[in-house]
Amino acid sequence: MSAHTVTRKNRFLAACAGEAVDTVPIWLMRQAGRYLPEYQATRRKAGDFLTLCTTPELAVEVTLQPVHRLGVDAAILFSDILLPLRAMGMPLTFTEEGPRLEPLTSEAAIDALRVLSSDELPEVLTTIRLLRRELTDVVPLIGFSGAPFTLLTYAVEGQTGKSFVRSKKLLYSQPALAHRLLGKISDSLIAHLEGQVKAGAQALQLFDSWIGVLSPEDYAVFGAPYVEKVLTALRPLGVPLIYFPLGGLSLLPQVGKLSADIISIDWRQSLSVAKQQLQSNQGLQGNLEPLLLLGPLAQLEARVKQVLASAPRRRYVFNLGHGLTPEIPPAHVEALVEMVHRLGQSVV
Ligand code: CP3
Repeated sequence: MSAHTVTRKNRFLAACAGEAVDTVPIWLMRQAGRYLPEYQATRRKAGDFLTLCTTPELAVEVTLQPVHRLGVDAAILFSDILLPLRAMGMPLTFTEEGPRLEPLTSEAAIDALRVLSSDELPEVLTTIRLLRRELTDVVPLIGFSGAPFTLLTYAVEGQTGKSFVRSKKLLYSQPALAHRLLGKISDSLIAHLEGQVKAGAQALQLFDSWIGVLSPEDYAVFGAPYVEKVLTALRPLGVPLIYFPLGGLSLLPQVGKLSADIISIDWRQSLSVAKQQLQSNQGLQGNLEPLLLLGPLAQLEARVKQVLASAPRRRYVFNLGHGLTPEIPPAHVEALVEMVHRLGQSVV
């Protein structure tokens, strides 16, 4: 198959499979979001963030906005990692200061959580079905969830953690209960991610946004086994599985033993150094420092070249080391996609 045919078929999926590509594929974490004026407009129309996530027509609209504006090689479902906790029985709101849940404080509250089945969160599944009708074959759809430990922190802290005292207190003073909670969350995520793939998601990413607060010893007990459980359960679905251990530099030797196809690396480590700690068949995604997008374009281009130079030639997907933030100018994001597609041709 010629490189051109591969491109038409799907540059992102081809790279995930380790096949030849004509240039490096790119998508960006939080590519739909507040830095885009068109997102702000749809968000105002929705009224609040949860309504935006759970109204399929509006979620489809914001998912497609960055695809049309930027020309990225994949779309990511517009939803949130906290929706499964809500469906498990935890009321959720989003405030100016971020998400708020009623924190789990007792064994009874943990036992009362429901385990999801794959047909739940029907609005999210409808969004996926509608998106697959709208997207061409060139732009695949990525589904996602949080990873088990990251969701445990939101469930136990009731908000974005700061010191993670409540979470760690649970791990160290009631480890059996922590394992029960992680088990319920993992089973729910497996069901929800299966539901996403059955509805049409063509790849999955697990966001482990708070795993960096765990020591390697604790990751071995409370982190990695549950990530592996989810990955193993999803393997038969046949879609590429991406794992993003944000801040997890010291965990990479263990991440290298997980059965993820692609590891997404944050900006703290060069891709070539990260690669040495992973399995030879694990691909890489990442890892430009997102706030470089605030600086001049010449500097951005020099740093894109550095990232490309440290990336593997096969099984590589360009991305940021974390998500786009509201301060970033859309024109710089457009320029980034153009740079990666242009400069990427000489490294594949
Ligand atoms: O474009 C995409 O990447 C897809 C959509 C997406 C969102 N959140 C939309 C969103 C994805 C993949 C997420 C994942 C997510 N959500 C994570 C993991 C990634 C990461 O950032 O580490 C986490 C930790 C959450 C939980 C969450 N959602 C927080 C802490 C917040 C508040 C902070 C903030 O940025 O406002 C959200 C809200 C949120 N999720 C917004 C968006 C676009 C902003 C909401 C708004 O419009 O006000």
